[in-house]
Amino acid sequence: MSKDLWTRVDSFFAQSLMPEDPVLQAALQASQDAGLPAINVAPNQGKLLHLMARMAGARRILEIGTLAAYSTIWLARALPAGGSLVTLEADAAHAAVARANIAMAGLQDVVDLREGKALDTLPTLSGPFDFVFIDADKTNNPAYLQWALTLSRPGTTIVFDNVVRNGQVLDPDAEEKVVAVRRLTEILATEPRVSATAVQTVGEKGWDGFILAVVN
Ligand code: SAH
Ligand code: DHB
Ligand code: MG
Repeated sequence: MSKDLWTRVDSFFAQSLMPEDPVLQAALQASQDAGLPAINVAPNQGKLLHLMARMAGARRILEIGTLAAYSTIWLARALPAGGSLVTLEADAAHAAVARANIAMAGLQDVVDLREGKALDTLPTLSGPFDFVFIDADKTNNPAYLQWALTLSRPGTTIVFDNVVRNGQVLDPDAEEKVVAVRRLTEILATEPRVSATAVQTVGEKGWDGFILAVVN
């Protein structure tokens, strides 16, 4: 069992279920050309987010951590006519690439990109959102959970990315962005407003996982 094999299995399914998409490919190319890190979700994960948003019947989506808007495009495409997505990005260079990619995808009227640290822009938003994807600076995940709850309604779906990190989550002495997952998990365990689970993933992005939660 190796990353090479996981990647080939990802490709096997991607070829049939996620056929080449010129817009998403161009978005990744623009991200790479601009020197942004390749830490976007994988295609099958992007489609998973897309499907989850559709399953949830989401009309208003909040994303924390835009990067080049790869996950943003997958999520925005799940919206029905009249739906909207707010995405928060702190890095001006990332936001510039994201804005261009959102326009290239024809989603400029659907996606509202707010540039700035999420803890500064979150207080300016009004809820409720139906679906929240949290994928920014991991140490702030406990604070982002509180904001997601403030901006939610019963039934809102909340998804956190990168909660396994090659199994490092087991190590209480791991780096801060990993230990923050342990803290988030403790908070979720005792937070009466949500019900949560965690799912490990393997594939072209290595071994990682999502925490999935629904607001009670
Ligand atoms: N969701 C994207 C990947 C996001 S990578 C995708 O899958 O395609 C994480 C992003 O969070 C980076 O672009 C980083 O600049 C941004 N970020 C980091 N700290 C932040 C903060 N405090 N507020 C908003 N965005 C932040
Ligand atoms: C990192 C962040 C991500 O959102 C991701 O998907 C992978 C890695 C990081 O900060 O290292
Ligand atoms: Mg991520």
